[in-house]
Amino acid sequence: MKKIHKNWIPIKEVTERPYTQTVEMFREHINPGLVALLEIGEYTAINPRSAQGAVITSTDGKEILDFVSSYGALNFGHNHPQIIQAVQDIQNRQQVDLSKELLSPYTAFLAHNLSLLLPGDLSKVYFCNSGTEAVEAALKLASRCFKGERPVFIHAENSLHGKTIGALSVTGSRRLREFFPTLPAQSMRFGRSDELEQLLEKNLKNGEQQVAAVILEPIQGEAGVIIPPDGYLREVRELCDRFGVLLILDEIQTGMGRTGSFLACEQENIVPDIVAMAKSLGGGVATIGATIATAKVFKTAYENPHDCLVQTSTFGGRSSSCAAAMAALEVLLEEDLPGNARERGKQLLTGLKHLQKKYPEWISEVRGRGLMAGIEFDIDVIDQAKYLPLKLPGLKSVLREHLPGMVAAALLKQHGILGTLMLNNRAVLRVYPPLITTEEQIDYFLKALDDILSQGPKDLVKNRVSHAVGNSGLKFIGSWAVSFIKK
Ligand SMILES: Cc1ncc(COP(=O)(O)O)c(C=O)c1O
Repeated sequence: MKKIHKNWIPIKEVTERPYTQTVEMFREHINPGLVALLEIGEYTAINPRSAQGAVITSTDGKEILDFVSSYGALNFGHNHPQIIQAVQDIQNRQQVDLSKELLSPYTAFLAHNLSLLLPGDLSKVYFCNSGTEAVEAALKLASRCFKGERPVFIHAENSLHGKTIGALSVTGSRRLREFFPTLPAQSMRFGRSDELEQLLEKNLKNGEQQVAAVILEPIQGEAGVIIPPDGYLREVRELCDRFGVLLILDEIQTGMGRTGSFLACEQENIVPDIVAMAKSLGGGVATIGATIATAKVFKTAYENPHDCLVQTSTFGGRSSSCAAAMAALEVLLEEDLPGNARERGKQLLTGLKHLQKKYPEWISEVRGRGLMAGIEFDIDVIDQAKYLPLKLPGLKSVLREHLPGMVAAALLKQHGILGTLMLNNRAVLRVYPPLITTEEQIDYFLKALDDILSQGPKDLVKNRVSHAVGNSGLKFIGSWAVSFIKK
């Protein structure tokens, strides 16, 4: 090797280096704020060595049960052998993985298989690499159907559809959107079809509809697992049809069996015009997203052969990613993961409801469908902690914001369970186990949560505050406090 910088880290040394170096280089080169946040929760104390199924093993042999599933990207658990094998097979055979001129059978057959699994006539597939790209392509497809003459998109408050400019424009989070230019978009309350009807009527200008599409998550994930009233999606579908507007469903989090069916919208018996998928489509092994449209919509948007290069992606639909997705779909069917999500989901929700009854001062609501669940905490429980540092100006309000985070930190430290928050709702603890999770693992989680809550709020707050002080994380908490007081 040519002589390179003395601080260069060769790849063969990666696993030999102390984990503290990983943390420091993340802080130095990637995202110092994120590292500070993770340090407060003591996530950085875990040095992950390997992972299989729902369990991550640290270098010191500790086992951690993953109840985050990378926000829905690990429905199959970590390193599912059948999915890894599919990718290795391609590499061992030295197959062409990346070519746009030479068509890949994996890309073609994955699209075919997907169309067999999806409801209605959702059969035209665009492959990309992430959720936000899948949403971006869906918005472009909808715009194009109306030759760009309908500038408006409608989305729900608190939605999360991605962080590129188009997807961000239909994401209902002020914190994520501020300081960025966005497309014309209007928001309505989730679950209120009457508001959608009013918006669609308001957007009729001289008899011309201004709205290209309505975009929704069938169940809002990052908003805190918000399940709409029965019949809501059907009413939305009817309104879209009545006003001649397209319906885009974002099944990036809810899809791939998480809510107990392949797509969540199947449980409402509706078919969107366009659906966006990503996360677990790659089986936790590959990065792949897909935008799937009905033949009619696709034809309207891109019917001219000259348009064939208008929407493409260099890495989208590469053989190895499509092979992983093909294997993932097979595992999903063979292991009946939607069925397991339903069974284990029932067990989880029943257990959580029991804990809500047992600790009404802690838990105000539990919500879930399949293995997509959230626990809404009553942040007033902090007031009962009666702990001296809570008198520090601003600290209490910061800790109230971080109550589920403190519960997650206690679950990790005391019981080896990985949990985390929701992006758009700081009162909710996410409970997203992989769909391969067993009855015993759900039971273990419920008992662990019971144990943490039984210790009372004072211990929880005390442990977190003293840890933060010990790690100079107080500075970070302080800056949060200041920002909250300013707001
Ligand atoms: C519902 C939903 N849509 C879109 C996205 C964006 O996906 P990605 O992070 O792969 O861009 C997410 C990510 O969490 C999501 O939950």
